[in-house]
Amino acid sequence: MTHNILRIDASARYQGSISRDLGDDFIDQKPNATVTTRDLAQGIPQINETWVGATFTPPEARTTAQKATLALSDELVAELIAADEIVLTTPLYNFSAPAAFKAWVDQIARAGVTFKYTETGPVGLLDDKPVTIIVSSGGVALGSPVDFFSAHARQVFNFIGITNVTLVGASGGTEAAITTAKTELTKIAA
Ligand SMILES: Cc1cc2nc3c(=O)[nH]c(=O)nc-3n(C[C@H](O)[C@H](O)[C@H](O)COP(=O)(O)O)c2cc1C
Repeated sequence: MTHNILRIDASARYQGSISRDLGDDFIDQKPNATVTTRDLAQGIPQINETWVGATFTPPEARTTAQKATLALSDELVAELIAADEIVLTTPLYNFSAPAAFKAWVDQIARAGVTFKYTETGPVGLLDDKPVTIIVSSGGVALGSPVDFFSAHARQVFNFIGITNVTLVGASGGTEAAITTAKTELTKIAA
């Protein structure tokens, strides 16, 4: 049985990116997995009026143009569904993730596709699966009062049905912080 990992990266940096390097390290520990990479730093369009109109149109009534508008969103959702495991690597930028992460969230939160409304509130439609979120930061430690990323990311995955979420942080950019994160990731990978 193949094990599909969806790897999502968000740092604007490639050279010297702590979050991407920790992601490499983590995924290297799963040599038998098939990895699909979605690099948010390459750009994710923001949703717009056309996009919202298309999602509010029942699938069978969508025009060719509306289907085209939703093509990337459909692809991003398909990646989530196909994954047995998700690895998200991101830096903290200005107290949250880079804007491309929010653009990705807006693309994948789809009523009737990744969640549905019920009489008792919204229900996630995806199968639960492990999500490991690796966060690099400067002065802001994960879970500190000015970390506005962690709770949001956890809620987004919970909202679409994924509750098995683990966050690992490396703050300060020091060797000690990176080593601690690596040790934590090795335990998770085992
Ligand atoms: C535009 C920008 C904004 C940043 N904002 C924050 C921040 O709000 N809090 C923080 O702790 N670090 C912040 N940092 C530092 C980065 O989170 C840190 O350098 C991290 O290692 C970057 O991830 P990377 O090494 O994977 O590229 C910021 C860095 C950049 C370039």
